[in-house]
Amino acid sequence: ALERALRPKVLDEYIGQEKARGQLEIFIHAARGRSEPLDHVLLFGPPGLGKTTLAHIIAKEMGVNLRQTSGPVLERAGDLAALLTNLEPNDVLFIDEIHRLSPVVEEILYPAMEDYRLDIMIGEGPAARSVRLDLPPFTLVGATTRAGMLTNPLRDRFGIVSRLEFYTADELARIVHRSAGLLEVPMVDAGALEIARRSRGTPRIANRLLRRVRDYAQVKADGVVTSDIADAALKMLDVDKLGFDLMDRKLLEAVLEKFGGGPVGLDNLAAAIGEERDTIEDVLEPYLIQQGYLMRTPRGRVATRLAYQHFGLALPDSLASGE
Ligand code: ADE
Repeated sequence: ALERALRPKVLDEYIGQEKARGQLEIFIHAARGRSEPLDHVLLFGPPGLGKTTLAHIIAKEMGVNLRQTSGPVLERAGDLAALLTNLEPNDVLFIDEIHRLSPVVEEILYPAMEDYRLDIMIGEGPAARSVRLDLPPFTLVGATTRAGMLTNPLRDRFGIVSRLEFYTADELARIVHRSAGLLEVPMVDAGALEIARRSRGTPRIANRLLRRVRDYAQVKADGVVTSDIADAALKMLDVDKLGFDLMDRKLLEAVLEKFGGGPVGLDNLAAAIGEERDTIEDVLEPYLIQQGYLMRTPRGRVATRLAYQHFGLALPDSLASGE
């Protein structure tokens, strides 16, 4: 079974994200009742929390088709126009990484979103003219890791804005149980909870770790995922007790040991650990910040007391006294 096979298809199967789920349930119900397209939806939050899954669920619950693309793929206005003119009424167009749309494509998206209208320029120079095309009503679902990276005019055109949060260990344990059932992996509750606790609040990671723990249980034991088996497998995978992986630890150790606990600027940090700025900001930092191991300050990234303690380092004077 692929990752896709594990994704919930309808809202009732979707675990966690109570806020986003509750809101969408009402708005979908209302739009359906009026036989209208759902208003445009912006989903934002760190990778792996279920943005794509929700886009598919929205289409399914609305009873319409979903067309999927992404910001970087839409290079020219014509690329977007081709997609929009092929939609059926009330269809969902899902644009992943919508913060990476080119300005020309973004321009033509505005009237499309507001009035289901395309204004396309044909030709160049004095002979250029604008052609107007009417579009079927549709729902744009945009996904981005950071809402702050959208331009204001684009963000303002979404009637529904949902922020996805990291999942709690209990929610992830339910997801791991569900996935184990679909994959026919025998598992005890404590095994699911161990994987859940060490998945960085992220279903995609939980499902990936589940597959690796299953392999380990099959080869090293009798196939049943217990908490001891999960613990041994996760240790082998360099996932520590807090769920931090090698990159998380590399980042924290760099801040602690190379930069004296910080503050350190993003560019220096990126160079020190050999990672892209974007990967640090979108993938690595959000969880470390949410868990209280790292802080973003105007002067740069700073390690917290918890970070020193996790690595068994003596607290610097600035953190030694109770704050
Ligand atoms: N699989 C991945 N994400 C999920 C979620 N939020 N609920 C249920 N199953 C999932």
